[in-house]
Amino acid sequence: MDAELLRRYLEFYQDLGIKTLYRPAAVAQALLPAASALMPTLGIEAVSQPRTGVETSLDTADKSACATPDLPALAPAGETLFQILADIGDCRRCRLHEQRSKIVFGVGNERSPLVFVGEGPGADEDAQGIPFVGRAGQLLTQMIEGTAKREGIALLRADIYICNVVKCRPPGNRTPEPDEMEICGQFLYRQLVTIAPKAICALGGTAARALTGHKEGVTKMRGRWFKWRDIPVMVTYHPSYLLRPYNQGNPKREAWEDLKKVLHFVYD
Ligand code: URA
Repeated sequence: MDAELLRRYLEFYQDLGIKTLYRPAAVAQALLPAASALMPTLGIEAVSQPRTGVETSLDTADKSACATPDLPALAPAGETLFQILADIGDCRRCRLHEQRSKIVFGVGNERSPLVFVGEGPGADEDAQGIPFVGRAGQLLTQMIEGTAKREGIALLRADIYICNVVKCRPPGNRTPEPDEMEICGQFLYRQLVTIAPKAICALGGTAARALTGHKEGVTKMRGRWFKWRDIPVMVTYHPSYLLRPYNQGNPKREAWEDLKKVLHFVYD
């Protein structure tokens, strides 16, 4: 890989806010001297990753965009969601693969101007391989379609794109760990680069943190616009939170207000 391509590659990941690149241990020693010199100047750290998976992904990666076998593909202009899915492969890059049944990549319209991002699959999603199909998902569908209808916007769930920060179910629906979010976040970011929506709606604190880097609680962030790269991000409550019987205040009403904002921003 020539130095210019390498620099573009590293700057792309730096732009995405990625600070660590995971590589298989076998190739860690072989990292190009040029990359070793560049990565610290860009604030990127290389970490050896003893599990397999990166090698698997590279079997299917776009070889023209990735000339050395020790780095994941530089997200090329025009990358498709299918290519990203193929790159994920039978992913074993983090511990979440151990108990998953299915990888939950994302669903919906690849050209949607609006993408909803949740935290990670639950039990129903893990069984079906589709995001937001359980109780929280049904509420999300009602919220999107109901709000759109009331606001005079012709929109069905199938018209938008829905995915999660992590693609495998965290055991017991625990919150994903920072390293899991960072490893899997690379795929979320590539999905967002590919879809290039007009706006993103972050559902809950995990998605909000992954996309904005802010550490405030969701009650402080909701209803406000942030940015992921140049794309506006609206933060709102996660539908699972809205399903809880006892909530302070009126979060359903607030979520409805947040959705109205994002729908009018995208579709007016
Ligand atoms: N919760 C999420 O964050 N994502 C899903 O896909 C389902 C429930």
